[in-house]
Amino acid sequence: MRYNLFNQIHKALRVLMYDTATLISQTDFDNPQQAEDVSERLYQLLELFDKHAYREDTMLFPLLQQYEPAVTDAFEQEHVTDRALIQRLKGFLMALAHAISSEAKKDLGSSLSMAFIEFMIFNLQHMKKEETILNNLFWRYYGDNELIALSQKIAGSIPADEAVVASKWMMKGLSNNEITTWLRNVERNAPNHVFRPLFTIAEKELEEKRFRQILEELTEGIMIAS
Ligand SMILES: [Fe+2]
Repeated sequence: MRYNLFNQIHKALRVLMYDTATLISQTDFDNPQQAEDVSERLYQLLELFDKHAYREDTMLFPLLQQYEPAVTDAFEQEHVTDRALIQRLKGFLMALAHAISSEAKKDLGSSLSMAFIEFMIFNLQHMKKEETILNNLFWRYYGDNELIALSQKIAGSIPADEAVVASKWMMKGLSNNEITTWLRNVERNAPNHVFRPLFTIAEKELEEKRFRQILEELTEGIMIAS
């Protein structure tokens, strides 16, 4: 199986969308605290999606541009659509923050819910296309070692505050084996001040049973290695 450039971040973005869809579904938009919570979550989600698309535009697509200009252009266009969907959601959030009557808040909540469903459907399709069409092209023109190095370069360019949010949703989206491999790689290749906070995020975000299983896997690896 070839290296999937998108796997870790796309799993994070998907589970963030699923979780946010549930939160929106459970929200009474005329309740100020609930509206505030959902708005805070949505701003966080939209920011992450916006930066992710920017990073793909600037650090991934240029690597295919020379070989497959038409495909690269088509995916850049999809990011233009994505940004329009993001702006639309931000518009509803701003209107909601300024709405006075309970009726207006409920109406805006319902429009926002529909806009989020559209955003989610678009992004699920878009990420699937990236993982099929674009991965196949990356695999044609680049070796796995080059793709892993590229992944590390992109991960290294992400500011710390954004990396914390992304790591949290990665923990929630990845399988036990994927988390174990990830933590093991970071422990081996990165300094302790990078590994420790990541380990703390795992401990905080994973259910106790999953965290224990992962911890067992990690320490077993250490015992075999020593
Ligand atoms: Fe994308």
